[in-house]
Amino acid sequence: MEIFDQPHDIREWSRLQSTSSFSIGFVPTMGALHDGHTRLIEVAQQDCDRVVVSIFVNALQFNSPQDYEKYPRLMDADIQVCKEIGVDALYTPSHATMYPPGFETHVSPGQTATPMEGAFRKGHFEGVATVVNKLFSATQPHRAYFGAKDFQQLAVIKRMIIDFDLGIELVSVETVRQPDGLALSSRNARLTAQQRDAACVIYRGLQAARNAYMQGEQSSAELMSITTDIYTSCSEARVEYIEIFDSTTMCALQNISKRNAVMAVAVWFGDIRLIDNIEFTA
Ligand code: PAF
Repeated sequence: MEIFDQPHDIREWSRLQSTSSFSIGFVPTMGALHDGHTRLIEVAQQDCDRVVVSIFVNALQFNSPQDYEKYPRLMDADIQVCKEIGVDALYTPSHATMYPPGFETHVSPGQTATPMEGAFRKGHFEGVATVVNKLFSATQPHRAYFGAKDFQQLAVIKRMIIDFDLGIELVSVETVRQPDGLALSSRNARLTAQQRDAACVIYRGLQAARNAYMQGEQSSAELMSITTDIYTSCSEARVEYIEIFDSTTMCALQNISKRNAVMAVAVWFGDIRLIDNIEFTA
C-alpha cells in the first residue's frame, strides 16, 4: 500500500492508474476505522480495480471545538487495517496541507443541507462538502463510497456531484450494525458501558416506527410519537430531533402514503451525539 500526504502526489498516482485503464474507488474517512469502514472498502474493492482511502479529521465540519478535540485518532492502527484489507493507496493530508494560510473558498450546499443535521450543526455540511470536494480533486475517483447512516450527507454530496459536473458515481453502502442494532460509528468508542447498553434504543425506536408503518400507519406525527415515547423511556437518551422526510428532496412529510420516506434521528448520550435513520419504502 502506498501512503501519500500531498494532493499532487495522490493525484499523480490516480492519473497513472486511470492511464492504465484501472477504475478507482474512493472511501473518504475520518479514521478510527471500524467494520462500517471496512464494509465500504470491501464494496469498493468488489466494484473497482484500485481503492483509495483517505483519513483526515476535518476541523471545518465540527461545530464544537471539544467534539473535534475528542474525536478518536488512531492513525497507526488505521494504517494497519488498510494494509491488511488490501487498500491500494492511503491519503493522509495534514490540516496545514488541506487548509494552508490564505485558504478561503468554501462549498455552500443548498436546500438538502438545511434541515436536520444542517439545522442543528451550523456550518457542518459546508465543511463536509468543502473537504469532500478537495478530496475528490486530489484522489480523482470514478466512484465514491459513503455509508447510509449519514443519509443527509449522501444527499448533499450527490447534489454537489451533479451541480459541479464532477462525473463521479456515488455509491451508498448499507449501515453496519452491532447485534443489538446500534449503528457502527467512531463515536461509539466514547460511550460509557452504561451509555453503550442504552444506545441500542436508537434502532429500537426506528424499527418500532417502521413496524407501525408496515401495519398501515402513515401519519408522520403518529410515527414520530411512537419513536419519541421509546426514547423518552430511556433515561440515558436525550433526543435532539426525530424527523420524517422525502428521501430525495429532504422536505419534511406530514404523510408518507405515496412517497419514499426516511425517518432520521439524532440522540445524545451524555456529551456524545449519535445519528441513525430507517427507510420506509412505499
Ligand atoms: O462521513 C465522514 O466520515 C466524513 O463526513 C467525511 C465524508 C470523511 C468527510 O470528512
